[in-house]
Amino acid sequence: NPIRDLAGEHLLITAGGTREAIDPVRFLGNRSSGKMGIALAEAALKRGAKVTLITTASRAVSLGCERVLVESAEEMRTAVLDRLPGATALIMAAAVADYRVTNPAAQKIKKSGEKLTLELERTPDILAEAARLRPSGTLILGFAAETERVVEEGRRKLREKGVDAIVANDVSRPDTGIGSDHNAGVMLFADREVRLELSSKWTMAERILDEVHRLRVLRDRS
Ligand code: PMT
Repeated sequence: NPIRDLAGEHLLITAGGTREAIDPVRFLGNRSSGKMGIALAEAALKRGAKVTLITTASRAVSLGCERVLVESAEEMRTAVLDRLPGATALIMAAAVADYRVTNPAAQKIKKSGEKLTLELERTPDILAEAARLRPSGTLILGFAAETERVVEEGRRKLREKGVDAIVANDVSRPDTGIGSDHNAGVMLFADREVRLELSSKWTMAERILDEVHRLRVLRDRS
């Protein structure tokens, strides 16, 4: 019998790598599988939360979890911002592209003997925007995928994006992080940090949700 300590919460959780169109058949993408976000969604559901999973990954999820399929960073942004007013917390485990093609081709690009150059522009920062727009009391948590100086870079993102916590994970190791069934990292808050030892993504999701619950208790007291 799982503890239903998240009853009353409505969590918005994002998962998977966004796909940015080059033309109707090709895209720029990344290796995110969606497993981390899905583990969070399933664990939160068991703990009594209402869950909306906004994902690019078509993997199956439990009945009872609302799933919104999106493709690009822009679609993910719209899906997140539309639902933010009704949510009590947002957790962004998705690997959102930082750049997209400025002018995706309307027709399939034909090959030629020449080099092909794609012009890229920045995508909107969904997490930072959600943190700015959040209704008071809404918890905002992000991830940071790093290959070096994991804690320093995670702390910088915590500050710059104005979020309540960042889960910083090392994505340079083949045995954890992106695509893997395992993960490890450190959860960073303004005033403390919690080490997340190497474990399955299911176990890591439970640890992260313990901290979401703790943040909620603290917030309710203040
Ligand atoms: O999907 P899996 O295979 O299970 O892998 C999980 C994971 C490694 C992808 C996950 O644990 C993880 O680290 N997700 C965040 C990946 C990422 O985009 O990190 P970032 O450091 O580039 O971005 C920081 C935060 O800002 C993230 O919460 C991201 O969702 C968010 N962001 C980033 C760019 C952007 N344009 N908008 C955003 O909201």
